[in-house]
Amino acid sequence: MPVEQQLVSDAELEKLESVLLNKAGDVSLHRRFRALFTLRNLDDDRAVKAISNGFADESALLKHELAYCLGQMKRTSALPILEHVLRDTHEDPMVRHEAAEALGAIAHPTSMPVLQQYISDPDRAVRETCEIALAKVVFDNSPEGKEFRSRERSEFTSIDPAPPSEEKEEIPALRARLLDISLPLFQRYRAMFALRDIGTPTAIDALADGFTDSSDLFKHEIAFVFGQMSDPHSVPALLKVLQKPTEADMVRHEAAEALGGIATDDVLLHLREWNKRPDAPRVVRESCEIALDMYEYERSGDLEYADGGETEKGGEAVTVVV
Ligand SMILES: [Fe+2]
Ligand SMILES: [Fe+2]
Repeated sequence: MPVEQQLVSDAELEKLESVLLNKAGDVSLHRRFRALFTLRNLDDDRAVKAISNGFADESALLKHELAYCLGQMKRTSALPILEHVLRDTHEDPMVRHEAAEALGAIAHPTSMPVLQQYISDPDRAVRETCEIALAKVVFDNSPEGKEFRSRERSEFTSIDPAPPSEEKEEIPALRARLLDISLPLFQRYRAMFALRDIGTPTAIDALADGFTDSSDLFKHEIAFVFGQMSDPHSVPALLKVLQKPTEADMVRHEAAEALGGIATDDVLLHLREWNKRPDAPRVVRESCEIALDMYEYERSGDLEYADGGETEKGGEAVTVVV
């Protein structure tokens, strides 16, 4: 058995899975999310299996997060379930989008045919994701991509849908590429992640200009990036997105969670409001529930956004008990 698998017993893993799947029927969504993040951190194939069992749920928010986590774990044992979710045209587009993005994150060449197949999907977010994910698989398997990954220079540990561009460019040039709709999305994303890595208020303003784009996918990624940067300077732009009823659910969802992570005093009122508003779409209400939990975590000074006590894995804190 590989070393990491010995650190968590089957019984502990089962416990986490039953919280994630809400087997008791009374587990709050935010606790289920915390169990999910704990499973993701375990980084073994049993955790992949447990997470995969969650796709029978009816919350699109939960399911899209399952797909996201499977991509971030980067284990090929997740490829069949992710392909299955992308192929399921009855599934919520936000979940299918995340499955396609996860295939891009894992970047295995065998995923290329399925991504190719859905590059003309009727749903714009799904087809745009397939376009970017395909470019990512090609990039990651190129000599340039392999060299890039061996360096890992970003302070952000996520596997991004596209690598930050590496040309030595100033913010105005990056902003121009970010907003140039004649360019492939993969190139625009590269500018987006380069601006994220610069991280100054001017870079944040340039990113916020992307909220005028017509692509929901593009806008949701900007909100996600703001969550990663966790800079209060992005709060006004994010609040505008959250409060806009005509904005797509997936964009508002990502704005809500970014606000929960930034956790300044002024966001609390708005997250509480949209968590309760009867006219808010389910995804927005649920995102605000998660965001409020993230807010509490940020304010609590806890070490890790996950559930229960901690153990050590390779020097990193991993939570195993729920
Ligand atoms: Fe997404
Ligand atoms: Fe999301």
